[in-house]
Amino acid sequence: MTARNKIALIGGGQIGGMLALIAAQKQLGDVVILDIPQAEGMVKAKAIDLMALRPHGGYDVDITGTSDYRDIEGASLVLITAGVPRKPGMTRDDLLKINLKIMKDVAGKVKEHAPDAFVILTTNPLDAMVYAFYKYSGLPKQQVAGMAGSLDSGRFRSFIAMKTGCSVEDVSGVVMGGHGPSMVPITRTASVGGVPLSALLGEEEIHEVVEHTRNAGTEIVNLLGNGSAFYSPASSVMDMAEAFLLDKKRVIPSAALCEGEYGVDGYFLGVPCVIGRGGIERILEFELTDEEREELHKTADAVKQLVEEIEI
Ligand code: APR
Repeated sequence: MTARNKIALIGGGQIGGMLALIAAQKQLGDVVILDIPQAEGMVKAKAIDLMALRPHGGYDVDITGTSDYRDIEGASLVLITAGVPRKPGMTRDDLLKINLKIMKDVAGKVKEHAPDAFVILTTNPLDAMVYAFYKYSGLPKQQVAGMAGSLDSGRFRSFIAMKTGCSVEDVSGVVMGGHGPSMVPITRTASVGGVPLSALLGEEEIHEVVEHTRNAGTEIVNLLGNGSAFYSPASSVMDMAEAFLLDKKRVIPSAALCEGEYGVDGYFLGVPCVIGRGGIERILEFELTDEEREELHKTADAVKQLVEEIEI
């Protein structure tokens, strides 16, 4: 027994493997990587490999691989990447039916073995999968979040840094809405070291940043040929995970259950959230322009349509 946090990773593929690596390097807790029985050897192998990495950085954490849900008992944090990633030509929505079945299975098991954990999902189509997990598991809304806004905002900030030639450290910006082509990068409030983006880039350049942000995931899928992004998704999940474990109260755009916020009711959508030991502690609201509000509702409609298709 240790007093360290226990972190359960459900799905030990590309993103799951990176999550284990980052969690170990940051010494955030002991890590259990769970996958389906057919992939148990793979996650056991990753765990052995990661254990041998510890002396190089002095990381005192335990990492194990399993396919037995009893091993996640006591986890305060569950990170779900279980599912199938996109192939070239597929949209995130094409994954709906396949990943929905997986979500049903995973939700029941997480509820049974780690009912008090904060759960962050990455499986696509993200907003619908988080909704499905929430419904199937019956966990309280504060305990369930989707990683998307964190990734999309990271991409947005990275592309702003590239266009302006300034450090990523000083770029601030938020992407709201669903994790798909209708996501809403809020250019009006984006800034570089406190200087509004509009003072640094012309309209056309800002438009290019927005389009690049929206298409970044697909660009990677097309180039990779057999999977989707994993470095930045894993880092984005770990930002949320760390905010929870260290009770940081960080403001990270996440897919959270909206109940009236931004005029959205009953759906998970990317909105700025305060994340601390209470999970999704608060959704921060601010006044949108008519155009932004219209775009946000368009993306909310796209999420609603998907959720209606899954009929839970
Ligand atoms: N329970 C546990 N693990 C599962 C289950 C299940 N029911 N079904 C599938 N898995 C595992 C797979 O065996 C695989 O190891 O989930 C893992 C997924 O890993 P990858 O195929 O490498 O996919 P990855 O790139 O990690 O993406 C995972 O996140 O960004 C999204 O679209 C992406 O939905 C995809 C998910």
